Amino acid sequence: MLPFQMPEWSRLEALARQPRPRIASLFGTDAARLDRLCVRGAGLTVDLSRLDLAADEIGALIGLAEAADLAGWCRRLASGETVNPSEGRAATHMALREPGAGGEIADMAARIRSGGFGAVEDVIHIGIGGSALGPALLLDALGRDGDGDGPRVHVVANIDGEALARACAGCDPARTLLVAVSKTFTTQETLTNLRSAHGWMAAGHVADPAARTLAVTAAPERARAAGIATILPFTDSVGGRYSLWSAVGLALAIRAGPDAFSGLLRGAHAMDRHFLDAPPCSNAPVLAALADLWHASFLNRPTRAVFAYDERLRLLPAYLQQLVMESIGKSAARDGTPVPVPTSPILWGGTGTDAQHAVFQLLHQGSHLDPVEFVAVARPGHGLDPVHHRLLLANCFAQGAALLAGRPESESLAEAGGDPSLARQKAFAGNRPSATILIDELTPERMGALIAFHEARTFVHALCLGINPFDQWGVELGKQVANRLAAGDTGAVDPSTAAMMRAAGL
Ligand code: F6P
Repeated sequence: MLPFQMPEWSRLEALARQPRPRIASLFGTDAARLDRLCVRGAGLTVDLSRLDLAADEIGALIGLAEAADLAGWCRRLASGETVNPSEGRAATHMALREPGAGGEIADMAARIRSGGFGAVEDVIHIGIGGSALGPALLLDALGRDGDGDGPRVHVVANIDGEALARACAGCDPARTLLVAVSKTFTTQETLTNLRSAHGWMAAGHVADPAARTLAVTAAPERARAAGIATILPFTDSVGGRYSLWSAVGLALAIRAGPDAFSGLLRGAHAMDRHFLDAPPCSNAPVLAALADLWHASFLNRPTRAVFAYDERLRLLPAYLQQLVMESIGKSAARDGTPVPVPTSPILWGGTGTDAQHAVFQLLHQGSHLDPVEFVAVARPGHGLDPVHHRLLLANCFAQGAALLAGRPESESLAEAGGDPSLARQKAFAGNRPSATILIDELTPERMGALIAFHEARTFVHALCLGINPFDQWGVELGKQVANRLAAGDTGAVDPSTAAMMRAAGL
């Protein structure tokens, strides 16, 4: 039976139909709320207590997860059984961070850093989707100047030649190494960029560009057929968006050093242990997943906004967009049954405090009531005046507090000079749900824990909808149509598309 066919699901629907108390009042009626909903795991503090979720609803959600066989699915995931039925595969990303794993990645990074491929000043990492977003996030967070200081790494994803041209612009072809990352080694963008990068090298008098190229793939035979001899393989039971723990994450080890990469794996493993061992009621990813399910599918809150209050995590929302929306953005359950409720939230977000001056108007006073998630790091990564970090964190915490408390019209009246219509425009309804994830320090270990937390959270969310989070059939149709159009076949397309093709001269 699928979760939405279970009596536990009906009980949750009934709870969601009840009048909702204000979130702030839940702290008064439930003295244990903060303890219950502010959970710690693998160095992360995850505070869900300001979400729109009461104690009986948490109990009922845990009941649903248990009825949906959370324990069994976790066991199957961790032991490498098939959890991706549409592709007949296991999902073995957790095995990549078991103690002792990652040796070949560390060795390759050490070889590159110590001149095993000649002088390497720049690395161009070519990949897209899961073969780019994770590495880009890791590099930006942990591979800044001074953090290990290996060769510079540029990530090129888009098929728009502008992306590759910009990366190549600052590089000397003779001192550049290409790392072509593609699980399938069939992806149009990656293969096109690789061909052009080889052309750039050849024009720069590199005798054998393929010899200056390393492939990371689950299809080594295709990389060999493309003339690449140095290959770091990974297994096809690791999904693209779950693959940064494999050689897909080599970029971090090259830039910040093999120790940074092994720290990342250690932190992720610590989160895996927390996820697999802690009971649901104190399990950070499980509780976060259930809160996600509750808001999106029972309270019909269609989006989830993530704001990183740390410049080093500015790529986190983009990374999470793929993880969450490619995993849960589906309408059919794992046996094909239509899921009768909204599934994945639309994930969006940005960086604090910038976003406060752009989109927070809507969060505070708009007609949406979607949950917001703040991610902050207690210690700064820079050595500037501590006032920067104090103000950053104060702003972060203030946003959540203001979203919750709001400001009644009676209070805004004075500020509005007694004008009631202006007072209404200056009033804040409050009662807007938010969560906060606080990290003590942004080390590789904590970064690993943070990403593994989101992977586990996504897994549990999908499981409670009966969805397979490890396939992505929804990206195929667009690829097929693009191939037809690129070949000049406009026969079967709608008039608007045909007109655009003509107007663009295609
Ligand atoms: O188009 C979506 C997708 O299949 C992602 O799931 C994947 O991460 C990306 O393309 C890249 O695929 P590959 O690593 O095979 O090049």
